[in-house]
Amino acid sequence: MPDTSFCESALQSAVTQYQGFLKAHTNAASIPRSFEDGAVRTVSARDWTSGFVAGSLWYLFEYSADQAFGRAAETWTAALANVQNQTDTHDVGFMLNSSYGNGLRLTDNQDYARVLIRGAGSLGSRFNAKVGATRSWSWGEWSYPVIIDNMMNLELLFRATELGGGAEFAEMAVSHALTTMRNHFRADSSSYHLVDYNPNSGAVVSKETRQGLADESNWARGQAWGLYGFTMCHRESTDARFLEQALRIADFLVDNPDIPADGIPYFDFSAPTMPGVPALRDASAAAIIASALLELRTFAPPDAAARYLDFALKILGTLATPQYTAAAGTNGHFILMHSVGDYPRNGEVDAAINYADYYYLEALLRCQAL
Ligand code: GLY
Repeated sequence: MPDTSFCESALQSAVTQYQGFLKAHTNAASIPRSFEDGAVRTVSARDWTSGFVAGSLWYLFEYSADQAFGRAAETWTAALANVQNQTDTHDVGFMLNSSYGNGLRLTDNQDYARVLIRGAGSLGSRFNAKVGATRSWSWGEWSYPVIIDNMMNLELLFRATELGGGAEFAEMAVSHALTTMRNHFRADSSSYHLVDYNPNSGAVVSKETRQGLADESNWARGQAWGLYGFTMCHRESTDARFLEQALRIADFLVDNPDIPADGIPYFDFSAPTMPGVPALRDASAAAIIASALLELRTFAPPDAAARYLDFALKILGTLATPQYTAAAGTNGHFILMHSVGDYPRNGEVDAAINYADYYYLEALLRCQAL
């Protein structure tokens, strides 16, 4: 087994950083989302990233058993109560799983279970049987947009069924994953960001990007969401088709020649070769890939499992260096620097972002448990 002791030190540094975070950020209704150009950007509970601060606090409580993190996690989770009724976005899955989902896992508070079931009802209201998927966004010029990120929201549907909310939620999740498998992937198992459907016939209208550089380029975080999403779908359903898809995505990503040797992808794999585009890395995509691979290795054949472990540890080893981990008290009290949110709209470009910290902490805990 490779040396994983650096994961423990990284978790200790994270504890110090988030102790400062809790002193600096005291209003759970004003959620720090990112840090860019010297300023912290805060959002309300309705933002798609609203659950990640609570989620990071739950992970730090899990690691440290420090009640100060436990109490804070409860407070920042409670501030998201209205998300369970939000029906205008697929992101309720991200928002509730990271906060209430981890809260339920660590405390067995049954009020959290009720919120998760109701939230799944809100997400499920976006399912269209003709398309076989839940709709991602309620805005924009598309007819029925489904983005690869939406794979992550299926965990809420699986959880609701497991909690007694009804079999239909897991059925929707399986349908959505199968539809995504059919339409989002290219022959090399890379994925499009967005597939637009005709909601009346279920036919594919277009395959596009939104946050990547081109429709046919590889937006790094999209590849990461797909890897994590299909790994999670296999965990929740034990369906071998989802494991095969996750393995295909992993084999596309691990040791991909377009990913630099330190394991941290460019925000879009084409960034270094596109004229006028800065070759920026995306720490958030790296953290999501590392966390997903550490889970996928537990389902994979031995040879693949060893490669996935090596690649995940390579990523985490890089993220744990001062090149990506901020000094205590800097970086808006976030842990990781150098993520890219939405390059085409100049949003959070080379920034600290709360979901990078969340998936990094998750990956470090998975590393520590090895
Ligand atoms: N779900 C949005 C993103 O990954 O940026």
